[in-house]
This record gives sequence, C-alpha cells and structure tokens, in this order.
Amino acid sequence: MCNASRAARNRAEGIRAGGRAAGERPPRRPGAVASKVERDAERTRDQRPAAKKGVAIFLPAIKSFLATMTKPVTIARPSEAPFYPPADEFFGRLLPLALTYDDVSLATLYSEILPRDVDLGTQLSETLHLQIPVLSADMDTVTESRMAIAMALNGGMGLIHCNLAPKDQVKEVARVKRHIHGLIQDPITVSPEFSIGDVLTIIEQRHFSFLTFPVVDPSGRLVGLLPGSIVKERYRAKKVTEAMTPRTRLIVARERDLGSDPIRYADTFFSEHIGINKMLVVDDDDHLRGLVTSTDVERILGEAKSQRKASRDAHFRLVAGAAVSPVRTPSGELDRERIVGQVGQLVDEAVDAVAVSTAHGHSAGVGEIVRMLRDAFPGLTIIAGNVTSAAGVEYLAESGADAIKVGQGPGSICTTRMVAGVGIPQLTALYVATKGAKTRGVRLLADGGIVKSGDIVKALTLADAVVCGGLFAGCREAPGEILEINGKLYKQYRGMGTLAAMKAGSAARYGHDKEDATRKISAEGIEALKEVSGSVDAVLAELIGGVQSGMGYLGARTLPELRARARYVHVTAAGQREAAAHDVIEVSTRKS
Ligand code: XMP
Repeated sequence: MCNASRAARNRAEGIRAGGRAAGERPPRRPGAVASKVERDAERTRDQRPAAKKGVAIFLPAIKSFLATMTKPVTIARPSEAPFYPPADEFFGRLLPLALTYDDVSLATLYSEILPRDVDLGTQLSETLHLQIPVLSADMDTVTESRMAIAMALNGGMGLIHCNLAPKDQVKEVARVKRHIHGLIQDPITVSPEFSIGDVLTIIEQRHFSFLTFPVVDPSGRLVGLLPGSIVKERYRAKKVTEAMTPRTRLIVARERDLGSDPIRYADTFFSEHIGINKMLVVDDDDHLRGLVTSTDVERILGEAKSQRKASRDAHFRLVAGAAVSPVRTPSGELDRERIVGQVGQLVDEAVDAVAVSTAHGHSAGVGEIVRMLRDAFPGLTIIAGNVTSAAGVEYLAESGADAIKVGQGPGSICTTRMVAGVGIPQLTALYVATKGAKTRGVRLLADGGIVKSGDIVKALTLADAVVCGGLFAGCREAPGEILEINGKLYKQYRGMGTLAAMKAGSAARYGHDKEDATRKISAEGIEALKEVSGSVDAVLAELIGGVQSGMGYLGARTLPELRARARYVHVTAAGQREAAAHDVIEVSTRKS
C-alpha cells in the first residue's frame, strides 16, 4: 500500500501516532509552562472549523505516524473496525459510563512481535528513563530502601514514602543510590572479644544461614576473618582472636579500586585468588566497607546475560524516587522552608524524582508546592498527583510537574469513594487524563487498582507507567515483619489514609494536620494483610511476562506502539466470568 493511501486509512481509523492525536503539536518540554502565546495558539487552533483543521492535520499525521510505525499495520478490516474501536471512539461511544480494568478487554491484532522482543523502556521525564514501566508506591508498608533497590535492579523504580523522620528518608534514598549490586554494605561482623560460643548463640538467635564473619574492632577497623569451618560446637570455648585468620594474612580489596564496575573487579579478584570466596572491602584507614561473595558475583554475571536491565542514572547508580509531604506551618501555610530543605537534602543524595503525592492533586496547595519545587530545582523530575481529569493534569503540568499520577479511589486499600463519594473508575480516569497529557506533553502514571499483569497492559495503553502498592506489599523487600496466622504467612498492608498511617505522618496527604488524625476525621483507607508473595524479582518476572505477552498479542514492540495500536471492547459480567478460569476445579501448579 502506498504511503498516502495507508495514511488516509489510518486517519479514517483514528490511529494515533506517538501517543498524540493526529495533527496535534509535538508535546511541550515536560515541566515547561505554556507561554501566553502558546496558550492563545492552542485556543485559536481548537476554535478552527473542523474542515480546515483536517487539512492542517493531514501532513503532520503522516509524518509522525511513519516515524513511530516501522511496519505496515493491519489494525482491523473495515467491516470489523466498529467492533474494536480505538480509545477516542470507544470511550466516546460509552459516555458517560465510567469503566475500570475488568470492564474492558483488548483486541488481538496481527503481530510480527514475539513477547521476548518487546522493549518496555519508558521516560518519566526528559532525563529519567526506566527499563520497565513499573513503580512501587510511596506507602509506609511498601517502599523503603530494600524495596527501592529491588525495584531498580529489576528496571523499575521505588518511591520511598515520607512517613519517616526527614533525615531517615534521606538515609533511605542514600542507601539506594550507594547500593552496589553484590556488595553487602553492612555485613554482619563479630567482635574480637567474643568466644565461638557467643557467635553460635548469635547465629541461633538471628537465624543466620552463614557461618563466616569479618571481625572488627569497636571503631569498625578490620582485624580478621572468622572462617565458617571453625564456628563449631567443639570450639565453643575458644576466643575469636585465637580462631580467626588475622588481618595481616587477609587479601582484601580497597574501596577506591572498585571503579564503576565492582562486580567485574570482584570477578577478577576471585579468579586471581584461588580458594578465596569472600572479598572484604576496606577504606584507606582499613575500616570495613563491605563484603562480596563469589556466589553473588556468579549469579549477577549470569543475570547480566538475561534481557532484564537495572534502571540506573548517568553515574551508574540505581534510580530512586521519594515522596514529599505537603506539610503546613501552624498558621496553615505550606512550610516552604521544611519542604524545600528536605528536597534539597534528597537532591544532594542524587534522588532521581520526587513525588508530591496527595489525595487531591488538582488543588491550590499542590499546585503551589509543585511550583515551589520547580523554581528551586529546575532539573529535578517532579511527579505530582493524584488527579482524574484533563484539567487536573494540565494544572499540575503548568505548575511544573513532569509526570502526573492518576487515580482516586482505585487502590486495594482505598475507601475514598465510599467515604467521600468521590472518584472515577480507573480506565476512564486514565483516558480523560490523556486529554490533558497530550496538550501539555507530560507523562501519566496509572496509580492504584492493579491486581494482575493484564491490568498493567490495559493501563499502559493510556499511561506511561503504573504505580503498584498491593502487588508488592507481600514481598519480603517490603517493610514490616512477617506474621504467621493459622500456618499462613502475611505482611501488614495499610492505606496512607488510615488513622494509624496519618498519625505516623501522612495526614497532610489527605489535607489534614498530623494532630487532626487523633481528633475526629474520617479515614480514607483500611489496614489489611497481604499473603507473603516471595521476592520482588519473582513477582515482577511474572508481571512483566504477562505484559510482554499482551504486547505480543497486539503486535506492539514498544509502549508508544502499544498506545497507538490498542483497540477496546466493553466486557459484560458474563464476559468477565468467561475471562477467568471457570467450570473446572483448579489444580495449583504454583511453586510454594
Ligand atoms: P494498590 O491498588 O496498588 O493501590 O494497592 C495503591 C495506591 O493507593 C493509593 N492509596 C490510598 N488511597 N486511601 C486511598 O483512597 C488510602 O488510605 C490510600 N493509601 C494509598 C495510593 O495512590 C497508592 O499508590
């Protein structure tokens, strides 16, 4: 088919190019505020008669479509196209019915794409790239440094919550930014004063699965290594100093020699020093700075051959985001000094994004805090929310945000819709939000309500990434203890709008004062338990596998292609029943 006739067909079918409706201007630089001239131009363009608009949009549509689609696209035959409409037609036809993930299914399209070949990379701003479009939520039962490290190692990003003392939040970010894959930064050490019996007691009490320990003096200086072969009952009475290999006989690595690829360094170290399987890292004063094991190095080098890449900044550090609380002074004004001061410290630790997370983002206070941060930190990626309207997206974009969180009440622990009677089913909210994102050139994050990989695929037909809380709250990397109830293992998962979480700090997110949380206010979330679900690696492997399959079914190699190709159908209750396993007795094949 020649280019002109293909373009004409595409135009007839309303195919969007690069996430923009045909004829729309390329997006403004994220975070940039529309100038008056630009705003006037937009108004004038929108007021032009449709026929003239059509002529004006024709050429850009061909150009931008060809730029994003390298292969010929067979979306649907003309006779079947009305059954599987693109977003504008689909959501437009159903007005004003609002839909969420399970109300909708995506149509299969001709594909030359194998699931393993898809590229899940996404931009949250001009400078922040993620390898996979998944963020863990800034909630106090979901994301601290352990979760953020696991997310970034898997290609996503964690948003560290702000129900922490400000200096502790900065420390959590620093832990992620200084994390060196494979380097155990706080290895368990023993004192030279201990006996082997003391070491055995610690191992038993703390359920350690390893027996080899660096020995350090009270100032943290390395004095020896206690080998596992000596940590035995028969040596119980012996002193650690008698049994350890002393510092003078240890071969160690200097922290400053590790360079930008510590794993390669460690790999060479283990090859050169036969029989050594623990590399101790010290600073110039011989303080112990970390430990690398040969088994970790082998595992990591194996993983490096796999397709999954970590999300890193320009200096090869893992990426990390952090939430900012819209705290106010006793007189009710935003506490500028505290907010800008805290973000300044996070920026000093090289935080990659801050998230102004609130229940109501389309509000004066949230606009003010975003403007405040944009002025103070021009290059910082700012995420803000939450909104469910195009006007809300435009408002936050004009205030200076790069990515906008969409979602009011879809979360698994949210009760906003019950308590306040407010909120929009998530897929419609996302669709409406795209109207603002397109005009302002900002990214959208689908926040809340995602319970399976198919929901992520549907969300990504409209958004640039998803934010998940409940899906990760059961992982061992989430903060909190594991509880055993009737032989089953659980972790606590609570809404940031529960009274307990608001008391711990998140009251400002819901427009309350911390002290209010003890007075008479309504919670907008619940406290819950999640069954322990294994590691973030395992959970993400399953989710990403599902997303890759979805993209394969739609013939989409990239996320912009997924957005351009998505065709929707409305599913009835019978259709939902049909979508899940039915009329069989399921035999569990999951690994325990
Ligand atoms: P999921 O479904 O992933 O949702 O568990 C996580 C998202 O829910 C939001 N959130 C809340 N919403 N009351 C609410 O209405 C709450 O107490 C609450 N806590 C979290 C938040 O956007 C999060 O990312």
